[in-house]
Amino acid sequence: YIQPETREVNGVLMTKIMSDNWDKIWNFQAKPDDLLIASYAKSGTTWTQEIVDMIQNDGDVQKCQRANTFDRHPFIEWTLPPPLNSGLDLASKMPSPRTLKTHLPAQLLPPSFWKENSKIIYVARNPKDCLVSYYHFSRMTKMMPDPGSWEEYIESFKTGKVLWGSWYNHVKGWWDAKDKHRILYLFYEDMKEDPKREIQKILKFLEKEMPEEVLNKILYHTSFDVMKQNPMANYTTLPTILMDQSISPFMRKGMPGDWKNYFTVAQNEEFDKDYQKKMAGSTLTFRTEI
Ligand code: A3P
Repeated sequence: YIQPETREVNGVLMTKIMSDNWDKIWNFQAKPDDLLIASYAKSGTTWTQEIVDMIQNDGDVQKCQRANTFDRHPFIEWTLPPPLNSGLDLASKMPSPRTLKTHLPAQLLPPSFWKENSKIIYVARNPKDCLVSYYHFSRMTKMMPDPGSWEEYIESFKTGKVLWGSWYNHVKGWWDAKDKHRILYLFYEDMKEDPKREIQKILKFLEKEMPEEVLNKILYHTSFDVMKQNPMANYTTLPTILMDQSISPFMRKGMPGDWKNYFTVAQNEEFDKDYQKKMAGSTLTFRTEI
């Protein structure tokens, strides 16, 4: 398996196979009872998926098991060469109510999601930790372009020359969309600070109630240490040819503030300056440590 070629769709970098399938992805038919988990890559998607799955299965761990991680929540735009999975195929075979996953920026979300008013949970993470996580992930997965050196990768991230495009546009686009649609906008740092509070927000959004003991069970099962051992969450069900976790594990650190171990003082200053420019005028703010 070779690292994929990339191509832009409306200024957003995608794998070539995704862009070849773009018409089908754009025309994806959402349903009113779909729940979509949306995020920029490496922002806490899998964590949110695990929480949602546990909630939907009333804390029954057995019911959260699937043949592999990708079967859990169809990843709508994610297409690999046959016979590997295609999110669109999985989604079309899935009985309703469906829970789906996407990393698409709001402006490229298939418009049927807006039209059908499907519920969406968006999770965002501060850009520095997101960048570090994305860098390591890109080193270990063979499904994405090579990140190059750390210095090169910082530039790729800042200029949005990474899969799914600019982090800045992504978080801002979804932030603006939340005022017009049924979107619960979560932050990775809030989840880390007080996971119980954030799980309760998700419960409320899903209009579900839960006994305290089930809530505590979900809290335990979705902690970093337990998820790291869970094959449904740690992506070890995928072959090494797709993810080589000996290079860097999928469940890597799970901590806000790890960026401090990577950015030099100068890189951090440059990054902050650029951040101020790109985020100017937005009410959205991030915590880079908790
Ligand atoms: P790190 O690489 O910083 O460790 P995504 O699922 O969007 O790809 O995000 C992956 C990131 O979320 C990884 O970050 C991973 O360790 C972290 N993560 C996954 N589950 C977590 C949990 N239960 N608690 C904290 N972080 C978690």
